[in-house]
Amino acid sequence: VPGPTSWDMARAFRSIRADPLTFLDEVSQHYGDTVSFPVPGAPALLLNDPADVRHVLQTSARSWGKDTVQYAALARVTGPGLLASAEPSWIDHRRLAAPAFHHQRLEAVGDEVAAAARTAIAARLGGPHADAVADGAVVDMAALTHTIGLDAVGRALFSTDLSDQAHDLLAATSEAADLVVRLGRSILPRAEWTPTRTNLRLRSARRRLDAGAAAIIAERRARNARAGGTPHHGDDLLGLLLDSGMGDGEIRDELVTMVIAGHETVAAALAWTLMLLAEHPEAQERVRAELDAHPGPVPLVGHRERLPWTRAVVDEALRLYPPAWAVSRRSDRDDEVGGRQVPAGTLAIISPWLVHRRPDLWPEPEAFRPERFLDGTARTGYLPFGQGPRLCIGREFALGEMVVVLAELLRDHRIEVPGGPGGWVRPVAEAKVAVHPRGGMPLVVRRTGTP
Ligand code: HEM
Repeated sequence: VPGPTSWDMARAFRSIRADPLTFLDEVSQHYGDTVSFPVPGAPALLLNDPADVRHVLQTSARSWGKDTVQYAALARVTGPGLLASAEPSWIDHRRLAAPAFHHQRLEAVGDEVAAAARTAIAARLGGPHADAVADGAVVDMAALTHTIGLDAVGRALFSTDLSDQAHDLLAATSEAADLVVRLGRSILPRAEWTPTRTNLRLRSARRRLDAGAAAIIAERRARNARAGGTPHHGDDLLGLLLDSGMGDGEIRDELVTMVIAGHETVAAALAWTLMLLAEHPEAQERVRAELDAHPGPVPLVGHRERLPWTRAVVDEALRLYPPAWAVSRRSDRDDEVGGRQVPAGTLAIISPWLVHRRPDLWPEPEAFRPERFLDGTARTGYLPFGQGPRLCIGREFALGEMVVVLAELLRDHRIEVPGGPGGWVRPVAEAKVAVHPRGGMPLVVRRTGTP
């Protein structure tokens, strides 16, 4: 299988670490659909052909597990929670958590998500009718979407107002996420107990996350005790976990997993969506026209029928900026991928970022064209939420949340690029746990109705 040599990799080492997206782009353009990386031991393959991707993530998912450096690094923060677990017992946790993401439950939390958006918008932008932020001010939309993302997870999954802890949780999750990425990319993995700077900082971030999770659990137990100590703790995720008889350690792992998986991704995706809408005012006006035609609250589930264009905007933004830019798997037996024999232990790297840019599947792949998704059918080579049995459990929630937040924001505000189209430079897409805009997403916000 073609691919860069060890010498190529050594020479490109700095740029690989600084900008893995460009590196992946370059190697796949140079070497084609399957790229082999020179690592000691079993082969490491970058797979870009949708048929190979389906094979690994879906058809043969049983033999391609998550025993990889990427998920081992994440597990240092989340423990063996739903996302990082490499064990077959993952399925028991998935079944347990599933009702918290069923349609019925999501319908019930739609208003909470809208409230999270309204609260953050009012705090940062002064609300639709107030004058706190000067009209036309430049606002970091990535900071706004982070606050909304965390609050939405708190309200929807833990029925908890995280605002008191928000600052610390946001700081601890983003620090932990940075360190996870650093560990995943380090060439000399050190044992967890060695007192390296990264290990020490990770331990401290973990302690802060533990404290946050412990406070959320204690608060719910106290609420339950006040209500007479019923065995049923509620229909949200936290209630399901407490009712399941899991130990506090396992519950903590799932809470931290959901905080990390559930807010960074949505926040980054929303920031990119707002950027694309600021760059394409006609697409943004079409969103507003759709919202005007459907006044009233936007449902979290079933929004597509009412707001097909807004949903297509979200789908297209997730194509261009898939927050989960790479996933990995390791084969536990010999297998055949794309007509080639691969031994047990082979590492597969799959990058939605690359697959979403294949010109044979996506003509003019860099162009923002929500029309691609208007017919609402499933598309080959589109996997922002993964594929197969380990598909994102939060998919429906995330899509609904993005549409609801866009509705809350764009009904009363217009977003523009600072300096006008000629003077605008996109923030760099930085590949951390999610692909996020380096340095934030500064955009001009105007209240609608002002010229
Ligand atoms: C899994 C992406 C939002 C929780 C995944 C995977 C992807 C993904 C690609 C599969 C990883 C793999 O196969 O290795 C995204 C994106 C999101 C998003 C792009 C937002 C735009 C959420 C939300 C939650 C969540 C809101 C929870 C509140 C999870 C969990 C898993 C997962 C727990 C692991 C599921 C399992 O293995 O059974 N996500 N996600 N995600 N996601 Fe999401």
